[in-house]
This record gives sequence, structure tokens and C-alpha cells, in this order.
Amino acid sequence: MNNTLDKKYLGEAAKLSGISGIRSGHVTWECPSNIALIKYWGKKGFQKPLNPSLSLTLHGAITRLSVDFKRLEGNREVTLDYLFENMPNHSFHDRFLKYLQLVSRYLPFLNTLHLSIQSHNTFPHSSGVASSASAFGALALSLCSIEQICFDTPDTGTEFLRKASFLSRLGSGSASRSVYGGYSLWGKAEEIPLSSDEAAIPINSEIADVFRNYCDSILIIQTGKKEISSTTGHALMKDHPFASARIIQANRNCVDLIRSLREGDSMRFVEIIENEALTLQALMLSSLPGYFLFHANTLEVIKKVREFRRETEIGIGFTLDAGANVHLLYPSGVANEVREFIDTALLPCCESGLVFHDITGNGPLRIE
Ligand code: DP6
Repeated sequence: MNNTLDKKYLGEAAKLSGISGIRSGHVTWECPSNIALIKYWGKKGFQKPLNPSLSLTLHGAITRLSVDFKRLEGNREVTLDYLFENMPNHSFHDRFLKYLQLVSRYLPFLNTLHLSIQSHNTFPHSSGVASSASAFGALALSLCSIEQICFDTPDTGTEFLRKASFLSRLGSGSASRSVYGGYSLWGKAEEIPLSSDEAAIPINSEIADVFRNYCDSILIIQTGKKEISSTTGHALMKDHPFASARIIQANRNCVDLIRSLREGDSMRFVEIIENEALTLQALMLSSLPGYFLFHANTLEVIKKVREFRRETEIGIGFTLDAGANVHLLYPSGVANEVREFIDTALLPCCESGLVFHDITGNGPLRIE
């Protein structure tokens, strides 16, 4: 397994160990979530993906996360207080603290600090948007900014984002892709130079115009807690009878999807993303134990979307998160027709008529 970045950041860690004139400070980042078009499903080793994945970064679905840091004399381990939507949240606090302890191998100055973190999401819980992607993206970016403030390391550009992607992956795999706008790829993919299991890379050069402002309308088929967490789901890929075929398929789909993005081939794009969405469901169905992630209305929506596409020849396609909700992806040029179709034909399939309209985003932003 290739551990180039791990070795590099561990090698540089000795220079980042607390002997800095800076005693306190404040950073805020906004990081968007993303929707996977090629699905990350299954892990190998620690937080490395079984197969490459490719996603679209969103615009409106954002975590805004602020960190106040303060050096505490005598601190030997990072300490944390945390508020989510202005309220204490013990389970997020514990997950963040465990994460901070983990990444202090690469950022040893953290052990001298007390952090006060506050985060807010622009999207509601159970809205079909992956909150761990935006949350860990925002936290990792903030930690890289604190490193920059304390040690004057680069504060923008490729190196900064690569480290943020590497660190966010350690919190949640899909977060590694959220540090870039547009399309990003995480996981070593055959035929794709520079792709890596350790961090994501942006896939934004030579993208055809039709894919630049792609829309994502998220239909909430069912609110409430998912039947199975993605962590448990990933674990089901261990010894899965179709695992090796899945790896081959995902590699092939990555190459084909990138080709369709560059050639502007909407119909091929739709074919691949729908194949990925249904494969994820099929992998879950054929796991031991097997899980149904979709709902009767998920299937109803899929049928209607395919019918609409056949009748109108509009390049609209669906993908699914690891649950029942449906993401509809389509070019911004046909947004009016598609929104009308959603309102008249699909809203009755959504719980309380809930739908969120989003669009491709440019990536995270440092606010303070
Ligand atoms: C179905 O990134 O949430 O959304 O690494 O355990 O945090 P952890 O998993 P997570 O898995 C996301 C699974 C997925 C597909 C994807 O986003 O690629």
C-alpha cells in the first residue's frame, strides 16, 4: 500500500511541535458536502477505500465551523469544547476529540492547545446530505489554517489542500473529496495519474460546459435515522462475495465517467451514475445480513425519472445516498423544465413534500 503522504506528514511533524510564538487565534471555514457519483463503499487498512470514488461538490449544503485556539501551559493532550448549532452535542464532541487525538500525530502542536469549536449546517439533519463530509472537511481545513498561522506554512494552493484532504479523510472518507470544488476523485484509480488512496484530487480540467453548473435536487423520500450507518455498511464489504467484481467495475466507471465529463456526453454520464447508485443498493442487498436502503417511493421516483427522460430526451439522472433519498442531477440549462416535473410528478413521493435544490459548488472558503 502506498503511504507517501503519511510518511511525508509524519516526517514534517517534528517541525510542528508547539514551539511557536503564537499563543491564541481564531479561524472559520465553510466547507460544502458532496454527492458521490462513483460510490466509495468498503475500506481497506485504516480509512483507505476499497475502490476509487468520484463526487460532485455542492454549493448550498455547507458546514460553517469556527475554531478558537489557545495555548495552555502544561497541556499534554489536546482538549476540546464543542457546540453544534449552539448546543452541546456529546456524540459529535467525542467523535471530534478522538479525531483530534488521531491527527495530532501529524500536527503535534495540537497537544498544547485547547480548542473551542462551533459548527452550523445550512442543511437540516436527514436531508439526504452527508454531514460528515462537510464537517470533517471544515475541521481539517481549520487545522491546516492553525498550522499556517502558528508555523507560517503555505496557506493556500495545492499543498495546503492536499494536506487538508489527507487529514479530512482520516475523519470521514467522503470528506477528502469536499476540499475541492467541482468534481473530485479519491482512491487510486487505474489509468488516472496522481490518484491516491491517501487524498483526493480535483478533476476539473477540460470538463465540458454542460457539466460545469450541474444541478442536484435532493428529494427527501424518508426523514429520520438511516437503517444502517455508512461505517457499518463499509464493514459489510469485507468478505463480500462480489467485492473483487465491484473494484473492477468502479475503476471502469471512473475512467468512463471522466471521459463523459470531458466529452459532454450527458446520456453516458446518466448511465454510469445510475449504474453506481443501483450497484450500491445491490451490494447492500447481497450483504450478510442484507439491508434494504430504498423505500417504495424511491422506486416510484426512479421509474418516473426514466419515463420523463425517455419522453423528453432531457439528460436527467438519479443517484442515491446510502438511504432512501434521491438526488436528481441535470444540466442548469433545463432547470425550469425539470423543476416543473419535480413539482408536479415527484413531490407526492416525498415525505412532507420536501425537496432541496442545490448546484455544483466552487469548494470551501476561509471566512476568518
Ligand atoms: C454511500 O465517508 O460516510 O456516501 O469513511 O466511514 O466516514 P466513513 O464513510 P463515509 O461513506 C460514504 C459512503 C457513501 C458513498 C460516498 O460518499 O462515496
